[in-house]
Amino acid sequence: MSSTTAIGIDIGGTGIKGAVVDLSTGTLLSDRVKLPTPKGGRPADIVDTVKDLLKTVSDKAAAPDLPVGICFPAIVKNGHTMSAANVSDKWIGLAAEKLFEKGLGHPIHFVNDADAAGYAESQFGAAKGVPGVVILTTLGTGVGTALLNDGILVPNTELGHLQIDGVDYETRAAYSAKEREDLSWEKWAGRLQKYYSTLEALFSPDLFIVGGGVSKHHQQFLPLLNLKTPIIPAVHRNNAGILGAAALAVKNRA
Ligand code: BGC
Repeated sequence: MSSTTAIGIDIGGTGIKGAVVDLSTGTLLSDRVKLPTPKGGRPADIVDTVKDLLKTVSDKAAAPDLPVGICFPAIVKNGHTMSAANVSDKWIGLAAEKLFEKGLGHPIHFVNDADAAGYAESQFGAAKGVPGVVILTTLGTGVGTALLNDGILVPNTELGHLQIDGVDYETRAAYSAKEREDLSWEKWAGRLQKYYSTLEALFSPDLFIVGGGVSKHHQQFLPLLNLKTPIIPAVHRNNAGILGAAALAVKNRA
């Protein structure tokens, strides 16, 4: 395996996914392994699951010493998780990077999941070579955001939690809200219209990219939006976190 090979792991509210990534092409070199997120999402349980997953993935790669990047749905500052919107409160203020390094016996790089997805799109996807301000949003259990300017990532923007109509708007605009409230595509698109118009007013972006699993149904809702800014689906959807975490691990090792 070349030095452009790394392992990416994406920790989510329901599943933890990982694979070996070829960073010269932005493709997966192994099957994607997925394990359920342990109930309660407590740090020690998640570390144990990631340990099992990493073993399976590195056995497939037959390369134990590849760089490992892990992404997680929280603010990540200097290796510490600083928020917990849809995960256990035990993550707040935790030295997560150190905890994983100790548990896995391997150096890792730890980042926010939307930042990983945004970085992946900037390297291998819809934001590649795009000048100016690009905002990637992931619409899933929560709303994650990555802000890029001329391809440079501004980390931890957390724009899913913008207060609109007096509420944390992730609770209205996430795909989980559509499912929970059984909203039609039209009703949900009305909420997305409000959300993206607010981002437009605040950032005057040059491009919006929409990621998360639901972006495979982009034809159902993107054409319903009326925005000044072009809005397009992400290229990597469910693998973006894995690709970006792996790419950032190598960038940070260099
Ligand atoms: C979290 C973010 C995360 C996003 C997507 C939000 O609730 O605050 O850190 O990126 O969900 O998982």
